[in-house]
Amino acid sequence: MNKKTELKKPALPPMGAQDFSEIEDWSGYFNAVLGKGARDTLIAALDSFEKEGFNNRFAIDLAAGEGRDSLELLKRNWQVLATDNHPEAFTYLWARVPEILKPNLTTTEVNFCNMKFPECDMVNASFALPFCEPQYFEVLWNKIVASIRPGGRFAGQFFGNRDTWASLANRSHHSREEVLKLLEGFSIELMREEERDDPPGLRKPKHWHIFHIVARKH
Ligand SMILES: C[S@@+](CC[C@H](N)C(=O)[O-])C[C@H]1O[C@@H](n2cnc3c(N)ncnc32)[C@H](O)[C@@H]1O
Repeated sequence: MNKKTELKKPALPPMGAQDFSEIEDWSGYFNAVLGKGARDTLIAALDSFEKEGFNNRFAIDLAAGEGRDSLELLKRNWQVLATDNHPEAFTYLWARVPEILKPNLTTTEVNFCNMKFPECDMVNASFALPFCEPQYFEVLWNKIVASIRPGGRFAGQFFGNRDTWASLANRSHHSREEVLKLLEGFSIELMREEERDDPPGLRKPKHWHIFHIVARKH
């Protein structure tokens, strides 16, 4: 054995949620994020509804994952339809729903392209829409807009055109102008554009470009 083969390769940093997302290993992703709190965009939207005295309504949590946002909606007494195309998502979610709130939750295993949207007061799509294949995005977005009642809200993220993952063929990314166009018909209550590089030391540092949105339908 020569000296070269004796040298051990440095251990790779462990896989984090973003590494699982990149390769769409959703099982790994659910484990990595389990127990994390609801997304800021959802909290902001719910706080706005509560200020309006608009409680107890019906939300669709699109691509709900392991259910961090669905749990928050349920805690705040919303009726929730949680959808995702990964069957394990709902195992994590149902296990954490208090018995008394279970009648308020429906889960449906469905792909973005087959989604049927009932009329609702909010569509919550946290870190979900970028994973819709581009050929289905327009139809999906039109269904989202059509399903939200006037005065209802959209909460969630769009990924920007300068994000590292924008080069992946099966992802939907948008420029700022495109996001604004998609949101015509809404009053934008929150639009936070996040653009940053990961610090070194992660397994696969990337450039992030995200639009965090809360918008109220006219
Ligand atoms: C990054 S996770 C976001 C999960 C959760 N909303 C959150 O905020 O953590 C993306 C989710 O999209 C779901 N997903 C990916 N492709 C999908 C598709 N084509 N149809 C429906 N859901 C999909 C995954 O199963 C996963 O739960």
